[in-house]
Amino acid sequence: MGERGAGDGRAAGPGGAALSTTGVPAFAPEWLALREGADARARAARPPALLYGHGRVVADLGCGTGSLGRWLAPRLPRPQRWVLLDRDPALLALAREGVPAAEVVTRRVDLGALRAADLDGATLVAASALLDLCTRAEVETLAGAVVARGCPALLTLSVAGRVEFLPADPLDAAFTLAFNAHQRREGRLGPDAAGAAAAAFADLGYEVRTYPSPWLLGPEDAELARTWLRGWVGAAVEQEPSLPGADYLERRLRACAREGARITVHHTDLLALPRTVPDHAHGRPAEEGTGPPPPERTGTRGPAGTAAAGARPRAASRPGTEHDPRDGGSRR
Ligand SMILES: C[S@@+](CC[C@H](N)C(=O)[O-])C[C@H]1O[C@@H](n2cnc3c(N)ncnc32)[C@H](O)[C@@H]1O
Repeated sequence: MGERGAGDGRAAGPGGAALSTTGVPAFAPEWLALREGADARARAARPPALLYGHGRVVADLGCGTGSLGRWLAPRLPRPQRWVLLDRDPALLALAREGVPAAEVVTRRVDLGALRAADLDGATLVAASALLDLCTRAEVETLAGAVVARGCPALLTLSVAGRVEFLPADPLDAAFTLAFNAHQRREGRLGPDAAGAAAAAFADLGYEVRTYPSPWLLGPEDAELARTWLRGWVGAAVEQEPSLPGADYLERRLRACAREGARITVHHTDLLALPRTVPDHAHGRPAEEGTGPPPPERTGTRGPAGTAAAGARPRAASRPGTEHDPRDGGSRR
């Protein structure tokens, strides 16, 4: 996966950029907690209903502290097993205790080298605020692993590269441009992530649907808005040092304090569905499922003939037991 250096308000913790000494960005739990409510309100409501009973075994890629699980688990059939994957052991430890499922296991994995085997019996692969950190090659690897597993994928909250402020400022567009360029550094997809993922899944024969999932920040989100603004402006200035970051930030923060924040940060949720779902991907007998949804498609390129080949059945893993040496633990 791509690594964020500074200030997108996502890689950075509250207060701005946060690089560890190894150069790996810190995804501070405080920051993830601060944004969790806005994330939950932003998420598209429709996709869980389109999973038609899939999702008894969920692999959450880049799980952080488990925010997606807290939102999604109550919307899926129970009982569930969640397999949480992240490279940060501290976040995995928090997530293990924080996802409301019958069984939760954690795995320390670098998603840049994701293999179908890492998905460990998943009947649904999910991720939140992850895709835009990836390079195109990483998204293609991810899509290939999901398609080899043969299950649906719900990949949420990818930044879309558009922000709206009320009141508007003449420099909004310049800062947005610089921020988006910052996101694309070192080959990361940034605002191109949802499009790249849609193309990758469609090329592998999946049906792809996308949904807007904007953060709608109002006066009650003042702390989140301030923290996000500092990171967003910081990244833009790092990318384009000639921008008057301090003045602009002060104007924006003053506007928040005076009138309450009115900021829309656009994101995209993406649902990728196999055209034929193998029995194992239901996580229950095939006759109980209603199969994939009818073809009300967006972003479909048409089958490329590879999905069926990749959708091989596999045995379910034993509940509650993890033998992978990278396993960070499990909770039942
Ligand atoms: C922006 S946070 C999102 C966390 C969580 N999904 C949420 O929505 O709150 C991105 C997460 O992806 C993880 N991550 C980023 N790159 C990774 C990689 N290459 N391998 C494993 N985890 C990665 C980070 O550790 C972090 O937990």
